[in-house]
Amino acid sequence: MRLADKIAIVTGAGSGIGRAVAMRFAREGARVTVVDRSREHVDAVVAAIGRANSQAVAAVADVTEDAEVSRFMEMTTEATGRLDVLVNCAGVTAFGTVLDSPASELDQVLAINVRSIWTVSRASIPHMRPSGGSIVNMASITGVVGAPGMAAYATSKGAIITLTRTLALEVAEAAIRVNCICPASIDTPMLQASFERLDDPDAARARNVKRHPLGRLGTPEDVANLALFLASDEASFITGGTYVIDGGALLARRWQD
Ligand SMILES: NC(=O)c1ccc[n+]([C@@H]2O[C@H](COP(=O)([O-])OP(=O)(O)OC[C@H]3O[C@@H](n4cnc5c(N)ncnc54)[C@H](O)[C@@H]3O)[C@@H](O)[C@H]2O)c1
Repeated sequence: MRLADKIAIVTGAGSGIGRAVAMRFAREGARVTVVDRSREHVDAVVAAIGRANSQAVAAVADVTEDAEVSRFMEMTTEATGRLDVLVNCAGVTAFGTVLDSPASELDQVLAINVRSIWTVSRASIPHMRPSGGSIVNMASITGVVGAPGMAAYATSKGAIITLTRTLALEVAEAAIRVNCICPASIDTPMLQASFERLDDPDAARARNVKRHPLGRLGTPEDVANLALFLASDEASFITGGTYVIDGGALLARRWQD
């Protein structure tokens, strides 16, 4: 029960990494607001948490819509006036180089992947101020080393790292910690969709596995474990950090093979 009695919000919690984070946090004693734009997925995650006798609240919302952000923030904090943990997982991928992607695509990716972290964090901080809190942002190793052919996505993930560092320093006096996680390939519906764009999805998956010296893709639960540590009081002296979780991929310099 490493998050006993904590109030948490997880965005993008309907699928993949966000889903695993929400389920793990609830199991560790948090009351989790499950935010996603897919009603079907939100309901499924809340039901799964309920079946495990843990606590969750459903919030069907688009994180790019400010009114919807205000609504789930109010819903989460109205009982206690407090928020302890925010995990920003909602995100989308985009494929294309700088030369072949229209700027409108960059606008759209930045709105979902970056602006939403800005607005949801802004809305959270007043509720964390009284006793401190933890914000965990889902960046990517593409934000560290770039990703040719995923230009808008990598740009957005680099911005998340800088936003994390900046906000960490801005709110440190209130004992609010802000960190980000940079996964390599994690086996989620988003990653599977990226394989399925290609002629031979199985070969694409096998090539991708080879980039990771540990010889496998990451699981959503691997990332949830790291998010749990960063969200918990065990990480109380850690802020502004960029935590790579990549099975050794960056070190082996195989990422862009
Ligand atoms: N899977 C990977 O290999 C990988 C690697 C690095 C970083 N990430 C990041 O981790 C995060 C989660 O990715 P995933 O692989 O679990 O993807 P996923 O597609 O399985 O889950 C993303 C969830 O975000 C939700 N979402 C998207 N836009 C939204 C919006 N505007 N409002 C509300 N919800 C929205 C989707 O409905 C979906 O349920 C993303 O930020 C992604 O960029 C993933």
